[in-house]
Amino acid sequence: MPSPILEAIEQRRSIRNFTDQTVDRAALHEVIQAGVWAPSGLNNQPWRFVIVTDAAIRARLAEQTTYGHIILGAPALIGVYLDREAMYDDLKDAQSAGACIQNMLLAAEALGLGAVWLGQILKNRENVGEILGLAANLELMAIIAIGHPSRRDQQSQRKPLAEFIVKEL
Ligand SMILES: Cc1cc2nc3c(=O)[nH]c(=O)nc-3n(C[C@H](O)[C@H](O)[C@H](O)COP(=O)(O)O)c2cc1C
Repeated sequence: MPSPILEAIEQRRSIRNFTDQTVDRAALHEVIQAGVWAPSGLNNQPWRFVIVTDAAIRARLAEQTTYGHIILGAPALIGVYLDREAMYDDLKDAQSAGACIQNMLLAAEALGLGAVWLGQILKNRENVGEILGLAANLELMAIIAIGHPSRRDQQSQRKPLAEFIVKEL
């Protein structure tokens, strides 16, 4: 039986090219709301978000990653953070952040937007925190670049399932 959820999971692609059209604030909030519905250990909901649309701040953030061209071309960024004060287990909280980010990527697609998970910028996470004026208890997990896709012909491959399943007992 066809499932819209399974189709969305398979058809989601990282989108790195955007039009100049701005993204509605309501849509950004809807993307974040989808992130918040992710599971988290003890339901501690340790994620926090920073929305950036200001061009000057985006330009400064772009200098912090080799993927700066994506940041410069994206009308909106969402910084996904963990709040150290809400965390209970580093590994499990980071896993929760991953689930949150994936929900956000899928929500962006569902809203007709495109998004990409940017992780390379983590190597300069302290600079990013300074640029955004954030307290030290917030730990950067990813920046999501988001906008209206200028093209939708992205391709991606996955290895055959048999390469991933180690054992079936
Ligand atoms: C932890 C993580 C970090 C990533 N960092 C970057 C990044 O810094 N720059 C980028 O262009 N894509 C980044 N990506 C996107 C991956 O390159 C992309 O998901 C992968 O190539 C598969 O393509 P798909 O998302 O279209 O299926 C990251 C993805 C993950 C999960």
